[in-house]
Amino acid sequence: MSHVHTTEALHSPHGDAHGTSLIAFDDFCFAYDDVPVLRHITLDINAGDSVVLMGDNGSGKSTLLKAICGLIFPQRGTYRFDGTEVTERSMRDETFSKRLHSRVGFIFQDSDAQLFCASVEDEVAFGPRQMGLSEAEVTRRVDDTLALLGIEPLRMRAPWTLSGGERKRVAIACVLSMNPDVYCFDEPLAGLDAKTRDWLLGFLKQLKAAGKTLIIATHDQSLADEVADWFCYMGEYHGYDDRPHVHVNE
Ligand SMILES: Nc1ncnc2c1ncn2[C@@H]1O[C@H](COP(=O)(O)OP(=O)(O)O)[C@@H](O)[C@H]1O
Ligand SMILES: [Mg+2]
Repeated sequence: MSHVHTTEALHSPHGDAHGTSLIAFDDFCFAYDDVPVLRHITLDINAGDSVVLMGDNGSGKSTLLKAICGLIFPQRGTYRFDGTEVTERSMRDETFSKRLHSRVGFIFQDSDAQLFCASVEDEVAFGPRQMGLSEAEVTRRVDDTLALLGIEPLRMRAPWTLSGGERKRVAIACVLSMNPDVYCFDEPLAGLDAKTRDWLLGFLKQLKAAGKTLIIATHDQSLADEVADWFCYMGEYHGYDDRPHVHVNE
């Protein structure tokens, strides 16, 4: 794979995958108020890809993840998920927005920003309930998810009484219980103890092996080494010559 150093060259390691990618940004521009944060992003991610987003603090990684999840919308350009343009208007269609939220999971950097229910059980049940599943199916999903993540003993605990590592597992459980196709992780290892980091690294590899699409913003070298199929650099390029990479937001 030749290196890609210009916007004129390939924008995706897949080459010309137009119309077939699961996640497709085309000239996507976003500003908070008048401050441009995402500039002319053109990027394609295929189903099953593991992409690591790299870039300095403030380069727009978290904002790009928010766009993928339909939490912000472009002032110019487009983002399509599985062929459908994600806009403020398309997200007002409840069928579409529920579908996007159930297919694309977002694990925030700060678990506290994600957890708001009175118990772990309610927290993990929230997504499946929003999807309109039967209570029997919701219960089955909660049981399976708590068992899979080894947090059954935390079931009746209030999230704010948990340790940082426990909260991260619960935040992941909330997404896992919806069984999405795409997992967006924002700095997943930041602030975790060694034991939780090891567990999470193994879990990410399991998701990858299961064919999930992973989009991970991280500065962590070992995480990048172990899971990235390719890299997306936000802004300046610094690193990894051994694997495909693209640059956006230059
Ligand atoms: N809610 C917000 N309102 C205004 N500016 C924001 C907001 N969130 C992020 N920004 C700004 O957008 C830029 C990109 O932020 P972010 O996407 O969080 O970058 P990264 O995740 O790469 O550190 C930063 O300059 C940041 O200050
Ligand atoms: Mg960030």
